[in-house]
Amino acid sequence: MINVTKTFFPPIEEYHEQLQRIWYNEWLTNRGELVLELEGKLKDYLEVNHILVTNNGTVPIQIALKLLGNGGEIITTPFSYVATSAAIVWENCTPVFVDIHPEYLTIDETKIEAAITDKTTCILATHVFGNPCHVEVIEAIAQKHNLKVIYDAAHAFGVVYKTQSIFNYGDVSTCSFHATKLFHTGEGGALFAKDNELQHQLFYSHNFGHNGPLDFHGLGINGKISELQAAMGLAVFPYISEISTQRKKVVEFYDTHLDFSKLKKIRIRENTNWNYSYYPVIFETEEILLNVQKALNEKQIFPRRYFYPSLNTVNYVQKIKMPVSESIASRILCLPLYVGLKEKDLENCTTIINKNLC
Ligand SMILES: Cc1ncc(COP(=O)(O)O)c(C=O)c1O
Repeated sequence: MINVTKTFFPPIEEYHEQLQRIWYNEWLTNRGELVLELEGKLKDYLEVNHILVTNNGTVPIQIALKLLGNGGEIITTPFSYVATSAAIVWENCTPVFVDIHPEYLTIDETKIEAAITDKTTCILATHVFGNPCHVEVIEAIAQKHNLKVIYDAAHAFGVVYKTQSIFNYGDVSTCSFHATKLFHTGEGGALFAKDNELQHQLFYSHNFGHNGPLDFHGLGINGKISELQAAMGLAVFPYISEISTQRKKVVEFYDTHLDFSKLKKIRIRENTNWNYSYYPVIFETEEILLNVQKALNEKQIFPRRYFYPSLNTVNYVQKIKMPVSESIASRILCLPLYVGLKEKDLENCTTIINKNLC
C-alpha cells in the first residue's frame, strides 16, 4: 500500500541511544536535557532568532492567538489544514476569510486590506505546502493598520525565503513536527518569535505561566514537549539533509513524468528555497480528480485531498463565498511523497494519473 506520506524512522539503535540518556537522567519532561539539546540544534540548523519546541503544531497557534488575538477578528486563509481556522474559533476569536492566490495558493495579500475592520487584531496566514506567503506586503499592511502577524508554518520546515529562514518572518511563526512531516518528533511542533519580549511571553504561556515553582507570570497552558519526543527528534535530526535529498528526487520524478498539459502544479514563490514537503496537483475538474483517485486506489495508491474542504465551508464558521479556494480545494490532490518511495511505484502512479486525465 502506498500512502500520501510515510513516517521516516531513524535506525532503532540511534533512537535507543537517545532513550538511554533519558533513563540515565531519570528525567522525562519539563524541558530536560534532550529538549534543550534539540532546541539548540534546530536553532543553529534553521538559523532562527528564537525557538521554543512544543508538544504539537496546533497548541502553538492557540498560544499565539491567545497572546495576540485579543478575542478579535483574525484575517485568515480558507486554504489550509483545519487546525488553522479551528484554533481561531477555539480561542474565541472570529475568522475572517480572505481568498487565496490561484497559483501560489497562499492568502491573496491584495484582498487583505478590504477585510480589515476596527475589530481586526491579527493576520494568521499559512505558508501552505511550504510555499511562503507574500510576507513583505503582509508586513506592510500589518504595520499600517497596527496588526500582528502569525504564520502557520506547519509545512515550512527548512524553507528559506530571501536568505532568511521563513520562520523569522511575522511576529510569531508556528511549525508542526508531526510524524508525517519532513522533520518530526512523533508529535511535536515549535514556536518562533520575532523578538525577546514575545519569546518570553510565549515561553511562560506554554508552561502554565510558571515563573519559577511558586510564581506565575500570567495565564498559561501546557504546550511542553517531553523527553521521549525530543529523543525521536534527536534521532531524526542527522538525517534531515538525506530526507530532503530523497524527497527532491521524488518531486523531480513527478515534474518530469506527469502530463502538465492537463494538470497544474503549485507555483513556488520567487526567491524561495523550497523544502519538497508536498506534491499537490490541480486537475481541470473535480470529476477528473475523483476518477484519478479511484484508479489509484484500485492499485492500492492513496493520495490525499489536501486541503478539502475549503475552510470557509465548515459548519462552525460564518459562511462566505471564497471562489478561488473552493475551486482549488475541489480539484487538488497531494501525491505520495516520502523517503523510500520506489521508482517502480512512482512510474505506476504517474502512468495511472496521465491515463485518467480526460
Ligand atoms: C497547516 C497546518 N497547521 C497546523 C497543523 C497542526 O499540526 P499538529 O498536527 O502538529 O498539531 C497542521 C498539521 O498537519 C497543518 O497542516
